[in-house]
Amino acid sequence: MRKFTLFFTLLSILSLNLPAQSHHLMPVPRRVEWPAGQFRLDKQFTLTVSKSAPENLIAAADRFMRRLDGRTGLFLLQIESDFIRNDNLPKEANLDIQVERKGKLELGEDESYQLKVDADGITLTATTDFGAMHGLETLLQLLEVDADGYYFPAVQIEDEPRFPWRGLMIDVARHFEPMHVLKRNLDAMASVKLNVFHFHLTEDQGWRFESKKFPKLHEMGSDGLYYTQDEMRDLVAYAADRGIRVVPEFDVPGHSTALLVGYPELASAPGPYTIERKAGIMDPTLNPTIDATYDLLDTLFKEVTDIFPDVYFHIGGDENNGKQWDQNADIQAYMKANKIADNHALQTEFNRRILKTLTSYGKKMMGWDEILQPDLPKDAVIHSWRGKEALYAAAKDGYQAVLSNGYYIDLCKPTDHHYLNDPLPASMTADLTADQKARILGGEATMWGELVTPLTMDSRIWPRTAAIAERLWSPESVKDVDDMYRRLGVISLQLEELGLLHIASREMIMRKLCRGPHTEPLRVLLDVVEPLKGYERNPASKFYKMLSPMSLFADAAGPDAAGARIFRAQVQAYLANPTPENKAVIRAQLLAWRDNHAQLKPIIDRSPVLKEVEQLSANLALISGLSIAVMDEVRPYEDTMDAAFEAAKEQGGRTELMVVDAIQELIKE
Ligand code: ACM
Repeated sequence: MRKFTLFFTLLSILSLNLPAQSHHLMPVPRRVEWPAGQFRLDKQFTLTVSKSAPENLIAAADRFMRRLDGRTGLFLLQIESDFIRNDNLPKEANLDIQVERKGKLELGEDESYQLKVDADGITLTATTDFGAMHGLETLLQLLEVDADGYYFPAVQIEDEPRFPWRGLMIDVARHFEPMHVLKRNLDAMASVKLNVFHFHLTEDQGWRFESKKFPKLHEMGSDGLYYTQDEMRDLVAYAADRGIRVVPEFDVPGHSTALLVGYPELASAPGPYTIERKAGIMDPTLNPTIDATYDLLDTLFKEVTDIFPDVYFHIGGDENNGKQWDQNADIQAYMKANKIADNHALQTEFNRRILKTLTSYGKKMMGWDEILQPDLPKDAVIHSWRGKEALYAAAKDGYQAVLSNGYYIDLCKPTDHHYLNDPLPASMTADLTADQKARILGGEATMWGELVTPLTMDSRIWPRTAAIAERLWSPESVKDVDDMYRRLGVISLQLEELGLLHIASREMIMRKLCRGPHTEPLRVLLDVVEPLKGYERNPASKFYKMLSPMSLFADAAGPDAAGARIFRAQVQAYLANPTPENKAVIRAQLLAWRDNHAQLKPIIDRSPVLKEVEQLSANLALISGLSIAVMDEVRPYEDTMDAAFEAAKEQGGRTELMVVDAIQELIKE
């Protein structure tokens, strides 16, 4: 038995070329040391929390115990007094958590922690409860298993974040996301040490905030899908318990059709307005030249600030196309009379008035990078989405700034694209002073909602956002892509423990599409396709509107097709080193793809919803067969084959095959 274990351990170390101490921590801590030894876990495992600890840390410690128990099945202690505040402990606690004080839920609060594991026990120390909670997440990621059971490896960690603003934005306006979906995503955020939930609440396509002062906002602008004020307060408290700030966004003056459904008199062109069903940049825009607009926003924003205590308040400000302003004679006359040169200047004036309101409520105004115009007061925060230029320009100009350009997870780009997107790469920021760099607060992954529903949203956010979380937490030098993917595979499964559907939703969609549990041939195809990237999947809202079905093939496809990534690596290995063994691996894969279509075809024949991918499947079979024939020297590569490879690049079901180039590269001189 021992020999076997040793053999397999050696084998896995050699064949995967892993470092001997290959942990799966994500984000990677600032400093880690691995002394020899381990702490073995048994069902008597106890923990204690310092007497001064705030209540939410007690609750967090309890959640930690339950998650540990869920993973190990040890039936750990579960009576609160068994492990709280050292009162009733049957023995000295195995995990001792010491914090100095309750953290303030504000930007820049101390989130550091120190974790020490040795054979005798575990100590977790932190200045604040937020730091301690980060440490508990690290500890859960450290759990290992061997033939004798579960253990924590001996370790010494000193950890703190690189950036203070590490966020996830969820757009709940294009598609409504129920509270329980948001809560499980808050749990996931906490598990990878993200600390800002940016709540994008309003859009052309929906108004999700219950307003007691202006009930027509949610009654007419939401299809009945909105959050009550109590629900939002509850969400804020839930996030706060996990050390997560909530920053609400009310997008003005553009992206405001849903507001104008109930209040068309505030628009820059006559109504009536209806809730927008298409995606894109829309014309409806608030009229910035009438007092009624500010009267509503002043009163509404007071209501909002009563619910969202965070200092930061996001006003959107993006993608105002100015068409309604250009066509409104009163607005043009106003601009002339007030010497306002253009629409940008008019929007800046609008922003200044909003800023005044928000300042009077004790808030700091944040907006997308369009708000960065001459005369914008310096206490506004710039949220860069169109490029990093705005980020650095803002910082040089004296503004604080947050990066989302490069973190648009709705665009279905692979994880490494986001992972390598550093907010402050040494190469681009050499000319920034230390003060200017310090104004770059961090970044946010942005989950825009045009193409996601509660069924698929988790799969668009996770696990990729864990890699973004690492980019924002860990030192810049942590950027080994292969190692990131290795750890991400482990973290992804751990995220499922929090109730996320990012893996399960694919299975559910496949069963529906296949009209039964036999889904394997569809999975083979799904493993090598990705949804069309960028804005290609739905240009000009041609293929999808807001009520379109989003439980089809493309929705089961993921942005990081694992089968394709593995195959591409195998092809590179084979081309570099064309041994019979390397060839056999590839040949077996091509054979499986060549023969898969014959297995998928009968399923498609009885499930018309899958017709849209029949050609895709046939194309994969065809190019795989051609490739085998050439590799086996049954026939030479012929120019006519180029057409087959070109055809295989055509989309099917709004997805594309991610192995076409690799298969062609194998055989084309
Ligand atoms: C944006 O993506 N319009 C901020």
